[in-house]
Amino acid sequence: MRLILLGPPGSGKGTQAHRLIEEYKIPQLSTGDMLREAAVAGTETGIHAKTIMDAGKLVSDDVVNKIVSDRIDEPDCTNGFILDGYPRTLTQADAVEEMLAGKGVQLDAVVELRVDDEVLVERVAGRYTCINCGTGYHDTLNKPKKDGACDNCGGTEFKRRPDDNADAMRTRLQVYYKDTSPLIGYYYAKRKLKPVDGMAEIDDVSREIHSVLDFD
Ligand code: AP5
Repeated sequence: MRLILLGPPGSGKGTQAHRLIEEYKIPQLSTGDMLREAAVAGTETGIHAKTIMDAGKLVSDDVVNKIVSDRIDEPDCTNGFILDGYPRTLTQADAVEEMLAGKGVQLDAVVELRVDDEVLVERVAGRYTCINCGTGYHDTLNKPKKDGACDNCGGTEFKRRPDDNADAMRTRLQVYYKDTSPLIGYYYAKRKLKPVDGMAEIDDVSREIHSVLDFD
């Protein structure tokens, strides 16, 4: 399965990707995570990307296209992958077409998570993730079953993102509507688009994703 999760910041792409990788044993390719890892590692790309990400703007197409192109050449991507947060511009979408055509494979579906803006702001403001396994939680909407311990790995250390603040979130939403939302029409025209109600409970969103992908 080669799948794109498309949606604004906080729509639940990462949350749903984590569930899909467990179930279908294919990797999640999150450009946001890859850029944050590069920033922590202190690479030239990472240091440059961090300033842009903290402000809520987009890292250049060339940089992210190269990162994804290298990543999908790795053996664990042979049977498929979930692109989370990529593509984000029409130029990136064209790059995906080229990458897949070069491998003689096709995109199966683009799941679009639809969520109202005020809910996105609330979700991002309360978000935190497990440092050990990356499972995402929320202060009120999605708490771990046991306070202070990750449901998935039992980890007790969590982190918050520097771009999860009101100013950066305003920019991230503007960037989404200007640069990324045109991809909705792009994939609709290619008959790949599968809109899903991302406002529903997390389990219900997962169920709807299954149903639109027609998996059993
Ligand atoms: P990235 O890391 O991709 O962030 P994003 O797209 O802004 O998306 P988020 O990770 O914020 O949200 P999400 O949809 O994954 O939601 P989540 O599941 O966490 O990108 C960060 C930055 O990197 C960009 O701004 C840019 O600078 C750069 N970048 C990345 N990719 C790039 C690209 N391709 N090109 C250029 N630049 C790029 O959920 C949010 C919260 O809500 C969580 O707390 C969760 O528990 C909760 N939640 C989730 N679903 C539900 C639900 N159904 N009900 C209630 N709560 C829910």
